[in-house]
Amino acid sequence: MKHFINLKDIPIKDLRKILSDAKRRKNLRKNLNDLEVDKGAPLKGKLLIQMFEKTSLRTRLSFYLAIKQLGGSALTLRPDELHLSKGGESIQDTAKILSNFGNAFMLRTDSDEKLEEFKKYLSVPIINGLSPNSHPTQILSDIFTVEEIKKKPISSLNITWIGDSNNVLNSLIAASIKFSFKLNIGCPTNYKPNKKIMKYIKSNNNKICIFHDPKKAVNGADVIFSDKVISMNDKVNKLKKLNQFKKFKINKKLMSFAKRDCIFLHCLPRGKEIEENVFLSKQSKVWQQALNRVHVQKSILLYCFGKLR
Ligand code: CP
Ligand code: NVA
Repeated sequence: MKHFINLKDIPIKDLRKILSDAKRRKNLRKNLNDLEVDKGAPLKGKLLIQMFEKTSLRTRLSFYLAIKQLGGSALTLRPDELHLSKGGESIQDTAKILSNFGNAFMLRTDSDEKLEEFKKYLSVPIINGLSPNSHPTQILSDIFTVEEIKKKPISSLNITWIGDSNNVLNSLIAASIKFSFKLNIGCPTNYKPNKKIMKYIKSNNNKICIFHDPKKAVNGADVIFSDKVISMNDKVNKLKKLNQFKKFKINKKLMSFAKRDCIFLHCLPRGKEIEENVFLSKQSKVWQQALNRVHVQKSILLYCFGKLR
């Protein structure tokens, strides 16, 4: 049994194994419908319990399809209907019940500490479906999408992030260190990664550069990533923050400083950080990116269950 909480704690050989399993499985089900089960139904009889303390569309749907396609089933809990939040039931007791009734737990949470607390008391795997500090299933899936489209290992590509220093960027930074790819970060001066992340970057890798001029950040990029300037539960002066990001808006002009075949990725949902004519352009691969989450999360589930070949 393995947990999937942060990319930085998972060996690169396991991350690579997840990606190659996802590629193989995706190819094998080209002619199957969404709810048809992969040959061998490797997670037959298994129940994934998912809980979202924050809103979600893609993560919810993709984990549902992922476990179904492996022969198992999913149950989604609403935190406001559990004793855990309102009735004062402890994480320890909740975890015991989740472990007795289900076989894996996927949690989207507003607290990284909660993931660790659950991990301590669960006897089934826990998967981080987004926390304030990371979004690891998203970024692993995005690496899959990049390599699928570019047909090259990500280590040979120039990756750029334009946007806030948030959970998604933190996972991209961890991925840059694990997979050894060049990462340019373009953000306003007062929105660079926090001290802890800067220390992590400095002590692990010299392939990450921070720019406060978006043109410099995208120069020579093979892939440009972005995300909303205002994340869920971001407790800031929204108008002020949006204003500070104005010159980081991704438009055709900015895209022209990247390589001609540069692609655009965005985890979604989108905000005002991207112009519609780039978001809906041929360079944008956001729908393929969203769908790939099903394939990669299947292999993440198999990894957690100790069933990756
Ligand atoms: N990208 C992503 O995690 O989307 P949701 O918030 O809709 O799950
Ligand atoms: N950074 C965003 C990601 C949404 C999938 C957020 O946390 O709201």
